[in-house]
Amino acid sequence: MCGIVGAVRTSEASGFLLEGLRRLEYRGYDSAGVVMISPGGELERTRAVGKVGELEQALRQKPLEGTTGIAHTRWATHGGVTEPNAHPHICNGTLALVCNGIVENHESLRDNQRAAGLSFSSETDTEVVVHQVYLHLQNGLDLAEAVRATIAELHGSFSLAVVHAGEPGRLVAARQGPPLLLGRADGENFVASDINALLPVTREYQVLENGDVADIRGTECLIRDRAGEIAVRTVHTSTQSGDSAELGEYRHFMQKEIHEQPRAVADTLEGRLLGDHVLEESFGSRAQEIFDATRQVQIIACGTSYHAGLVAQHWLEYVGIPCEVEVASEYRYRRHPARKGTLVVTISQSGETADTLAALEEATRQGIAGSLVICNVSESSLVRESDLAFMTHCGPEVGVASTKTFVSAMSGLLLLALVLSRRQGFDAGFESHVVRQIRTLPTALESVLGMEDAIADVAKVFGDKEHALFLGRGAHFPIAMEGALKLKEISYIHAEAYPAGELKHGPLALVDEKMPVVAVAPNDLLIEKLKSNLEEVRARGGRLFLFADPGSGFVESEDVRILQVAPVDSAIAPIIYTVPLQLLSYHVALIKGTDVDKPRNLAKSVTVE
Ligand code: F6R
Repeated sequence: MCGIVGAVRTSEASGFLLEGLRRLEYRGYDSAGVVMISPGGELERTRAVGKVGELEQALRQKPLEGTTGIAHTRWATHGGVTEPNAHPHICNGTLALVCNGIVENHESLRDNQRAAGLSFSSETDTEVVVHQVYLHLQNGLDLAEAVRATIAELHGSFSLAVVHAGEPGRLVAARQGPPLLLGRADGENFVASDINALLPVTREYQVLENGDVADIRGTECLIRDRAGEIAVRTVHTSTQSGDSAELGEYRHFMQKEIHEQPRAVADTLEGRLLGDHVLEESFGSRAQEIFDATRQVQIIACGTSYHAGLVAQHWLEYVGIPCEVEVASEYRYRRHPARKGTLVVTISQSGETADTLAALEEATRQGIAGSLVICNVSESSLVRESDLAFMTHCGPEVGVASTKTFVSAMSGLLLLALVLSRRQGFDAGFESHVVRQIRTLPTALESVLGMEDAIADVAKVFGDKEHALFLGRGAHFPIAMEGALKLKEISYIHAEAYPAGELKHGPLALVDEKMPVVAVAPNDLLIEKLKSNLEEVRARGGRLFLFADPGSGFVESEDVRILQVAPVDSAIAPIIYTVPLQLLSYHVALIKGTDVDKPRNLAKSVTVE
């Protein structure tokens, strides 16, 4: 993860760098730092542990001046969260470097560098990189050539930016993994990990390809590819809004984004339905050809997006499409016998998740019918790398815990199941029934948000708990998994999800009167089975919190609390039942006093393996 920003300007660069860091903070917020080449030709550095706000404060005390600089917001990989480990790292007082990613062979390089007389002031892999560039400069290479020689020696996945005190107006940037963008405006040059940081100065950007080294000298920028040849990269124009998202009446972005879900799903569906029919072109211009060749679906994703995939598996299998769902970080390192006619579907709100990108690359190598990404960021790497893209259009999601993008991704996946159902012989009546239910989603989501006060009340029970169990069956098991993940990540309570029928095979041993057990219990085909599982919990003194509709037939008692959800069709129930679980985790986090939008140790975009 980590965010990189850099500038070669004709006027003061520090304002742009700081605003860029604020806009990249979602990528990591353990520490931040900036280096400027001062008007006197020296490297001036300020670093601070904590969020970008801490760096801002430090800079207020001691402002930095200069037109050339690099800055970084960190998500720690190698080395603890300390100021010495914060970037930029400096070698010999003259060379400064910021890096996003991981360098795997840093140990062996460090040994050689020690032998060459260099010393270390941090535990990071990045310090090894800046030392390596320095050694190449010592051997007479020019800055860009020294960077090229260095990246050829590094194993791993990273992008970086470097400046040298002796060369104000020059910045060298390189990509070998996580994205790095170049922007140009009014004779000034900028680099950043994503477009958000560039938007205050320009909408036009180029994306470096792996192996590229960009050499910025004043107003000029020359890109050379891995082979050292001059490369011309397409200039894209961003359509993203330059405004940073505002909280408005809400206390946290997560709360705002939970409440935005009716609008978000309406935006996801906009232009995708015609009467009672899903428009196939919503998935891209080659949708018909690729869907015609599809015999099975392989879904690959991480975290919350993986849970969306698990829900979709139920929908796809219901319409007769064989479907497997894999965690991307595992998929990429397994052997997969090639299977003709596989549609690989990746799901990613950011479109930049390193494991998902690598898994897509691996899957594509196998020979597949095509790839489709369900994504919220149109300018992301996964969108660029996929044959088809379904954009969820729910606007920027700022809270680290995904909420609206999950619900919108599931809505998109339900449309995919319908489009594929046509090829499986399901009649138009089936599609039109489900589309009618889909059209009710925004209203049903609005209605379920009305449960917030009751949920806030129940959240009080969880405030002093250390563990919680989440149960569900069928397509609601992944919703229970998502509920448990949300509780873990923002309230730091250990939570596990189980398919309710599995309890008796082990986890029931955990149940006693101290263990809150949350169950997703809509009135569906499995309700009677779920009831029996829940009775087993009650019999062991477990305290139940049931999200259920009136038809589920539960009776409230001292040990059973019912949170009533308005009845919805089973086709859309997993989407609706997500929302009360999000609200539960949000209100528990409020009680625990955690940093809801920036939970500890996490980041919004996971661009490292
Ligand atoms: C949890 C969460 C993460 C992400 C995961 C994948 O709330 O947001 O689990 O779902 O890191 O990220 P994307 O969807 O960007 O690929």
